[in-house]
Amino acid sequence: MKKTRAVITGVQGWVPEYVLTNQELETMVDTNDEWIVSRTGIKERRILKGENQGTSVIGTEAVKGLLKKTNTAPEEIDLIICATVTPDMPFPATANIIADNVGAKNSFSFDISAACSGFLYALTMGSQFIETGMHKKVIIVGADKMSSIIDYQDRATCIIFGDGGGAVLLESTTEEVGIMDSMLHADGSGAPFLHMKAGGSRKPATHESVDAREHFAYQEGSTVFKFAVTNMAEVSAKIMEKNGLTADDVAWLVPHQANKRIIDATANRMGVGPDKVMMNIEKYGNTTAGTLPLCLWDYESKLKKGDNIILAAFGGGFTWGSIYLKWGYDSN
Ligand code: UT7
Repeated sequence: MKKTRAVITGVQGWVPEYVLTNQELETMVDTNDEWIVSRTGIKERRILKGENQGTSVIGTEAVKGLLKKTNTAPEEIDLIICATVTPDMPFPATANIIADNVGAKNSFSFDISAACSGFLYALTMGSQFIETGMHKKVIIVGADKMSSIIDYQDRATCIIFGDGGGAVLLESTTEEVGIMDSMLHADGSGAPFLHMKAGGSRKPATHESVDAREHFAYQEGSTVFKFAVTNMAEVSAKIMEKNGLTADDVAWLVPHQANKRIIDATANRMGVGPDKVMMNIEKYGNTTAGTLPLCLWDYESKLKKGDNIILAAFGGGFTWGSIYLKWGYDSN
């Protein structure tokens, strides 16, 4: 009997309209366009403005667009998983809010917190609900409103992050396409280098915690950078080796968009040339769980059925991993 796999049958991204440029950041903190571009590759990022606008806005717009372009009725969806570190609120899950907004009345839904690797974790988990035969249509959302946890007085973090995200539809197939393999990792000893100090159960919000600016993302950039370069490159090379793939076999690398220098190191380690690397960091910055679906969305028109694609990410936790998939459809 042929193996049942989960295959991506559609992708849709969404970013807010407001563009925060390096030039505008120059007026907010002691930085400059040359430093930001040379150290990160980022020129601008999007910011979700307005009252009561949470990550669910990003997820809802992406899922609405996805349902429309794949001609899927919301009632057909069995499950929505949302990867995010900036949920609308600690509970209920942002995935529940998205499901309600789009009318996915027959689905159950939950969030996954794995920072920049969240989309990889959620895609792996969602594909297993399909492989078991338990569900037919699963939506994976990766979305973050990073501006809600960024200190715009901290030049080391505010230049990197942006808001945005995307969603993919997973369905079952017995063809030789879809999610072929996944390697996921976590190391909680990385927490001191990338975390939010207050607002959780260990240190609930107080006037003091707000005054101390502890409700923002805290990052020791150069330490995270070193771990990211090593681990993202290593896991990407390992998944190729495990599946007998050479650099020539790989059509696309889809790397987490945290820093162009981390992306280049990963591509080099894999032996993959820049023409095969999806990159949109210059216009969106680091949208945490949003970067991978946003890349797939931007490059969708170039993808061909059967393309070997390697997704890779590294982020808070630490968490990191890689997915090997074969693209399921010709986009044109
Ligand atoms: O997606 C989640 C995982 N996160 C990542 O993967 C991020 C990994 N880290 C990075 O991408 C980089 O570490 C950063 C982009 C955050 C920082 O780049 P860096 O090359 O590691 O810089 P650094 O932190 O080592 O700082 C170098 C210098 C320092 O000045 P001194 O001490 O050498 O005088 C910083 O104060 O650059 C200074 N600096 C800045 N200068 C201008 C730091 N931020 C800025 C800035 N503008 N925005």
